[in-house]
Amino acid sequence: MENKVKPNGSATLEVNGKKIDLPIYSGSIGPDVLDIRKLYAETGMFTYDPGFTSTASCESQITYIDGDAGVLMHRGYPIDQLAENSSFLEVCYLLLKGELPNKEEFADFEYTITRHTMVHAQFDRFFEGFRRDSHPMAVMVAAVGALSAFYHDSLNIHDPVQRKVTQNRLIAKVPTLAARAFKYWMGQPFISPRNDLGYAANFLRMCFAVPAEDYVVNPVLAKAMDKIFILHADHEQNASTSTVRLAGSSEANPFACIAAGIASLWGPAHGGANEACLKMLEEIGHVDNIPSFIEKVKDKNSGVRLMGFGHRVYKNYDPRAKVMQKACHEVLEAVGIKDDPLLHVAVELEKIALSDPYFIERKLYPNIDFYSGITLKAMGFPVEMFTVLFALARTVGWISQWTEMYEDPMQKIGRPRQIYTGATKRDYVPFDKR
Ligand code: ACO
Repeated sequence: MENKVKPNGSATLEVNGKKIDLPIYSGSIGPDVLDIRKLYAETGMFTYDPGFTSTASCESQITYIDGDAGVLMHRGYPIDQLAENSSFLEVCYLLLKGELPNKEEFADFEYTITRHTMVHAQFDRFFEGFRRDSHPMAVMVAAVGALSAFYHDSLNIHDPVQRKVTQNRLIAKVPTLAARAFKYWMGQPFISPRNDLGYAANFLRMCFAVPAEDYVVNPVLAKAMDKIFILHADHEQNASTSTVRLAGSSEANPFACIAAGIASLWGPAHGGANEACLKMLEEIGHVDNIPSFIEKVKDKNSGVRLMGFGHRVYKNYDPRAKVMQKACHEVLEAVGIKDDPLLHVAVELEKIALSDPYFIERKLYPNIDFYSGITLKAMGFPVEMFTVLFALARTVGWISQWTEMYEDPMQKIGRPRQIYTGATKRDYVPFDKR
């Protein structure tokens, strides 16, 4: 990757009477950055930024977010245009390669991904080591990491051909593993992938078909699933992506790095929020209970938050939430849920929250999770699968970011520093003197 940051002046910092110049760089859009790489060498000081709220950890050309304006773009293309007009596999190609494919390029990519969906037969026995009711995310962390034990021929990260094979294997095989994690948890036999189906349709079939009965994929649900995958495909340097980059900065193999990303995604503050949102809607239960719930949310002592609202980066409507809201209505109609009480609660809750000064003043808007729980539930997924679906879709983002990191000439092993506030030097005290 060719670096694209452009010098754009400098800022002077005075530390203990010493002045140093810190270069400023501009990207193509977004805030400028202050280059502090020489700060420690010149001043003996570190910067302190827990949670990285003011820190750009890398240069990237993949995804751009303007949280104040509610903008999300992949390789420059707005997310709503991609969700409306593209397909998940095309978005995968775009994220990985930087440009939309022409017809031949896309056909070739689709063919390759479709023909990498099977896993080694021995892999199926690997699942049998798990307790029968293992959480599908626990299985995913292990199974994706275990790909590195099964595919030795694509572990040399210095070989561009092997890197490409690994990218394809991950995008192709993670749905197979995700469906197997689901089936194992349910106690149903694994369903093999089918090459005549599209990416999302094949995944739905692997999840919901049983050997005893034919399963015909509803095209509306396949389309909605594809859209949900697009909406979750990448989101710049979030916790799980930063985890993948950090793990990869030591030159660990990408299967292991993606497993680390899945572990990070598992947390309720990241990938688990849609489950929490669905639980909240179920607890509210009826529109009549909304006012008292809103009062509780506004009471700081209650510890209750309106799940699916607010975002660290978006201080405007999450652009993915709008697409998800539409997909939610389409799915409910396709599965024949005409009058879902949860949807009623969600729509009313959103209306009330968007007109309430508490939420307006704090710039709290619906995020993608507000409608995704209802949608996935209506499609037949239990809450235990919600984060697995997120991981499946985000795999392409992770591997694109991993590749970009690996190919970046400025890349170094990630090694943050700290401000130490522990004990200063003291001498060891034997047991009988303590
Ligand atoms: N409900 C009620 N109040 C909220 C909410 C909420 N969902 N979110 C933030 N606030 C309030 C805070 O109490 C705080 O108020 P104060 O200034 O009076 O103290 C103010 O808004 C700022 O909140 P912070 O916690 O500082 O905002 P932060 O950016 O750190 O938090 C977060 C972002 C964690 C997403 C938060 O909005 C939240 O908990 N939302 C609910 C959980 C959720 O939906 N997460 C999904 C995120 S999207 C994703 O991961 C795919």
